[in-house]
Amino acid sequence: MEIYNGWLIVNSYYNPAKFNSLYRVLEDSAEKAGLHFSKWTSDQRPTIVGSQAKEPKPSFVLFWDKDIQLAKTMELSGLHLFNSANAIALADDKMETALKLAAAGIPIPDTIPAPTCFPGCKRNPDSAERAAKILGWPLVIKENKGSFGAQVYLAKDKAEAARILTHIGEHDCQFQRFIRDSSGKDLRVTVVGGKAICAMERHAASPTEFRSNIGAGGTATARVISPLEEKLAVDAAAALGLDFAGVDILMGRTPEERYVCEVNSNPQLQSTIDTCGINPATNIMWHIRSQIKSAE
Ligand SMILES: Nc1ncnc2c1ncn2[C@@H]1O[C@H](COP(=O)(O)OP(=O)(O)O)[C@@H](O)[C@H]1O
Ligand SMILES: [Mg+2]
Repeated sequence: MEIYNGWLIVNSYYNPAKFNSLYRVLEDSAEKAGLHFSKWTSDQRPTIVGSQAKEPKPSFVLFWDKDIQLAKTMELSGLHLFNSANAIALADDKMETALKLAAAGIPIPDTIPAPTCFPGCKRNPDSAERAAKILGWPLVIKENKGSFGAQVYLAKDKAEAARILTHIGEHDCQFQRFIRDSSGKDLRVTVVGGKAICAMERHAASPTEFRSNIGAGGTATARVISPLEEKLAVDAAAALGLDFAGVDILMGRTPEERYVCEVNSNPQLQSTIDTCGINPATNIMWHIRSQIKSAE
């Protein structure tokens, strides 16, 4: 089997232990698919915007960071990124995701962009009250950028929304309808190369917690998904142009009521491996290999 050499780009600053074990899973899985990569932190490959990558160019870059400017600079220099810079940018900003999914006709919870708040200005909770007139209380307030549920909030009334908005400050955010039947649970579907590889149902850490992120203490069980759930996950990844993705789906009262909540371009893999007994990194690597070969 011909070996392809590539780079794994990871964030320079954010390196908790669980990320180091994730990088090892990626490296081991790559070797199995005949891909070999060297790992670089995002400060180790300084590139002049508009310059061409030096030969020998890596055959692929597995870009496990959210540094959109670096990703775009690398693509402009002629490198082939997985996921692409544009796809990561769309997935990393929950408002961009909502716009793309809605434009593609994919159901999402009703979402209203919160007004931009310039540095030094103070947010006005009237905006939340107006949104809640349409979406109802409690109101989900989400920062457009965030992970592990840490920047997702639930406001029961205007006073709580005011406190949340003060905390969010100038970060961009959105108001969203609370999908009550999905409180404390959701589906995480892993999609690679246009196929749903596996899925798990996640449950929140406590009965009073509405967020089901594993990173926030949630638990998970493997789950067979319905054709609708599979279609939504695959369509959501395709709408954002992602080669691989972790798609969060909220569950309404009936099996037909499903909403794409969020799409992750760099999903955590360990909980999926532990829960589903499937290693999506292997699928990711074979997908990359087939893409490199078809581009040759
Ligand atoms: N509109 C909503 N209604 C009900 N629960 C929600 C809603 N939005 C998010 N959640 C819950 O909060 C969790 C985190 O939200 P998500 O948008 O996926 O952000 P993060 O990037 O932090 O994971 C979801 O997995 C889900 O359990
Ligand atoms: Mg999520």
